[in-house]
Amino acid sequence: MRSLVLRATVLVAVLTLAGLPSAIAANAQEAVQPGRAVVLSKCFQCHTDAMFRDQRQDRQAWEATIYRMVGRGGLWTPEEIRLMADYLGTEFGPSARRAPR
Ligand code: HEC
Repeated sequence: MRSLVLRATVLVAVLTLAGLPSAIAANAQEAVQPGRAVVLSKCFQCHTDAMFRDQRQDRQAWEATIYRMVGRGGLWTPEEIRLMADYLGTEFGPSARRAPR
């Protein structure tokens, strides 16, 4: 009995150290906003989000920004562009207050 409690404690400690809670949070966020992962993997190829995280634009303006990046060498599918514009237009839209991380 005692060793079972000990094993459970160790298991909890290992899972906590492995960052399970934050992993679950990240997955939940990606499920709601699939464009987030696309932005993280695509936009960061050339510069960090310091280039755009303080900007507030509507979806259409973000789409124009994305196409400017295509002109600078970004190579993305229409689906990836749609997901990124959806995400940026929501999280970095005109009424978004804080800079999301
Ligand atoms: C192929 C490389 C590349 C990729 C990928 C890229 N960018 Fe850029 N981006 C640039 C360059 C080059 C500049 C100009 C840097 C400068 O002016 O110093 C820039 C500048 C910007 C600017 C400020 C200037 C402007 O035209 O608005 C924004 C906003 C921006 N990028 C957003 C994004 C977003 C959002 C993504 C992802 C969809 C992205 N970038 C992906 C190359 C890239």
